[in-house]
Amino acid sequence: MRLVLVGPPGAGKGTQAQFLASHYSIPHISTGDIFRANLKDGTALGIQAKGFMDRGELVPDSVTNEMVRDRLTKDDLSNGFLLDGFPRNVAQAEVLRAILAERKTPLSAVLELAVDTAEIILRLSGRRVCRNCGKVWHVEFDKPADPTKCDICQGELYQREDDKEEVITRRLEVYQEQTAPIIAFYRTEGLLITISATGSVSDITERAITALSRVQ
Ligand code: AP5
Repeated sequence: MRLVLVGPPGAGKGTQAQFLASHYSIPHISTGDIFRANLKDGTALGIQAKGFMDRGELVPDSVTNEMVRDRLTKDDLSNGFLLDGFPRNVAQAEVLRAILAERKTPLSAVLELAVDTAEIILRLSGRRVCRNCGKVWHVEFDKPADPTKCDICQGELYQREDDKEEVITRRLEVYQEQTAPIIAFYRTEGLLITISATGSVSDITERAITALSRVQ
């Protein structure tokens, strides 16, 4: 299964990716997570990405494409992969198509998670992340016992810089302007599957697996 997960910020891509990656035994490749891990480690890549991420803008394609190209050369992809957060514009989608064509491993499907804007704002503004293990929580929908600590490792919970209200607005604009056009791109390629991403996390996972059962 070679899968791309697409949807607006806060649609639940990271949440669903964990379950889908485990179901299909494939690695979850999140460009946002790779940038954040680099930032935590203080690498040049992380420092370069930070300003763009904090403003809710896309990191330049030259940086992002090379990072993904490099990740797709690793030897853990024999069962496929689940890309989350890439591609994010049509130019990236074309680069991905070319990389996969070189390897003769085209995409199996592109799964779009559809959620309305009011729900997205609730999800993003209430998201908290563990500084230690990276587990994602929500102040209302997935509460830890202590609102300041991770239930799993007791790490400190923080709010992502880009989950502040003014940045959320910009991320949603960037999604509409730059990322939404890839939906039409993949529809034309015959790869697009859209599901509603409203409801419980487990219902959405089930919906996704049912929808994907026809592409394997
Ligand atoms: P990235 O990390 O990819 O951010 P995003 O796409 O904006 O997605 P999010 O991580 O915000 O949301 P999600 O859909 O994963 O939702 P989640 O599952 O956490 O990218 C960050 C930045 O990196 C970009 O802005 C850009 O600067 C840069 N970047 C990354 N990729 C790039 C690229 N290809 N090119 C250029 N730049 C790039 O869920 C959200 C919350 O909702 C959580 O609290 C969760 O608990 C809760 N939740 C989830 N599901 C449900 C549910 N069913 N019901 C109730 N609550 C739920």
